[in-house]
Amino acid sequence: MNYEKFIQEQIAYIKKTVGKEKAINALSGGVDSSVVTVLGHRAIGQQLKTIFVDNALMRKDEPERVVGIFTRLGINVELVNARKEFLTALAGITDPEHKRQAITDTFYSKLFSRLVKESGAKFLLHGTILTDIEETTAGIKRQHNILSQLGIDTEAAYGYSVIEPLKTLRKDGVREVARMLDLPAELTERIPFPGPALAARIVGEVTAERLDIVRAATVIVEEELADSGAFQYLAVLLNDRATGIRNNKREFGHIIVVRCIESTDARTATATQLPWEKLNSICERITRIKGVNRCLYDLTPKPPATVEYV
Ligand code: XMP
Repeated sequence: MNYEKFIQEQIAYIKKTVGKEKAINALSGGVDSSVVTVLGHRAIGQQLKTIFVDNALMRKDEPERVVGIFTRLGINVELVNARKEFLTALAGITDPEHKRQAITDTFYSKLFSRLVKESGAKFLLHGTILTDIEETTAGIKRQHNILSQLGIDTEAAYGYSVIEPLKTLRKDGVREVARMLDLPAELTERIPFPGPALAARIVGEVTAERLDIVRAATVIVEEELADSGAFQYLAVLLNDRATGIRNNKREFGHIIVVRCIESTDARTATATQLPWEKLNSICERITRIKGVNRCLYDLTPKPPATVEYV
């Protein structure tokens, strides 16, 4: 694949499609939406409005950090606080697909369609990649960013057309493009993080309190495994509790699962053989989080497991 040519073609395609209209895109800080943001700004500059939606599901300090990276690249990103809307939509939901649906609906039908209307944009630039399309159409899992492939007419439903410059690439191709666009390593080499964010790592109800627990565990796992060379590593909060003992008192505490995998494209994966000392130090730190008294390491390959838990 000639990525230089790909970049030029996509820039020309975005420019031609948008014409004199306005476009909008949502940046999550993942490599896909970051590449789309840069391609879009190179193609149409100020005609593209980029927003970052703080949906309350992101990792610690993530919204400010991502906006900061793009500010340093000369790209203005508007931070939209939608924490309350997402938490309200997720309240009481435990079924994984319903959770994903609630996030999709809140994002597209409620929030994004309003933001698009306010901006006057006729086009939405979207970071859909080939794997998203394949897994969704195969019915394996509904990726939250697939709409047209599911037969949803965005023009009729939400009032805009979708442009998907990355839909012929897989993750490795997107990373290659990201490097060629001179995006910082912090973005190009970033481990995968799902669209539904930490909601994909909470089994059971997503609440502000439960998000705080999985967020604290995520900080620890990402710090401890940053040098592991693994494809992806994450922390999950289970919906069960287990008996433990703390300060000589019985405690019915939360359970965190640590997952660390080897993979090339996330379609199949195996658990990383982490050193025992590393697992111990992660366990020790995670069980210091208030209310968490068990930490488990997941050995299951994909398949039969998936990478995320929701
Ligand atoms: P699963 O859990 O399906 O994950 O084995 C495969 C890879 O995809 C990521 N993932 C997602 N990415 N939206 C995304 O953008 C999603 O809804 C989503 N679900 C999973 C996951 O982190 C892993 O790298």
